[in-house]
Amino acid sequence: MHSHLLPGLDDGVTSLDETLTCLRQLADWGIRKVITTPHVSRDWYPTSSAAIQQGLADVRALIAEHQLPITIDAAAEYLLDDFFLDLLNKGDLLSFGDKRYLLVETGWSAPPFQLADILFRIQTRGYVPVLAHPERYKYYHTDRDALANLRETGCLFQLNWMSLSGRYGSQVEKQARFLLQQQWVDFIGSDLHRPGDLKAMARLLNAKDLAMLEQQPLLNTMSLG
Ligand SMILES: [Fe+2]
Repeated sequence: MHSHLLPGLDDGVTSLDETLTCLRQLADWGIRKVITTPHVSRDWYPTSSAAIQQGLADVRALIAEHQLPITIDAAAEYLLDDFFLDLLNKGDLLSFGDKRYLLVETGWSAPPFQLADILFRIQTRGYVPVLAHPERYKYYHTDRDALANLRETGCLFQLNWMSLSGRYGSQVEKQARFLLQQQWVDFIGSDLHRPGDLKAMARLLNAKDLAMLEQQPLLNTMSLG
């Protein structure tokens, strides 16, 4: 429920050929449904919902053409900037699942000013905020209380599959294990950007972390249909 498989919309796959390679591998691993989530932000990817829907239609045609045993929906990974706040006010956001889950990310250097207020506004608009890869933000490595506070305000967490295989470094891996120990992982996502990521994903399939993941109260299967 977190990937970048619509070519040309962000820093993910660059062609439908790459999309096909990724989807083939996911289907071979037994994954039956993908929710792809292009980045949306003012500075880098001010992509419209209509453009995402068009990209989704193209990938659905690709799946049909190659008869892959997998289905795909699209939402987005929203950076919490002023562009996002405009979209929130306009009601022009792409969520997923039965509870209108909204995948959001914060900046790498610092969380946005008034994060709690933004999360509250998301919820009053009828969405459930899901923070993408909380284990990757450096400023939370030394401030785990801030993560606990986020959960108390009703923000769910999505762990990146590849964080457990050391893909983003040892500190991120350590924080990922901390989240698992706390049972704070609501969704597991791949954050798959390109075929080159598949190797790192494959490593987890044989890892002992898979058993720990299975003990999390994951919402992936029950909420997404
Ligand atoms: Fe992502």
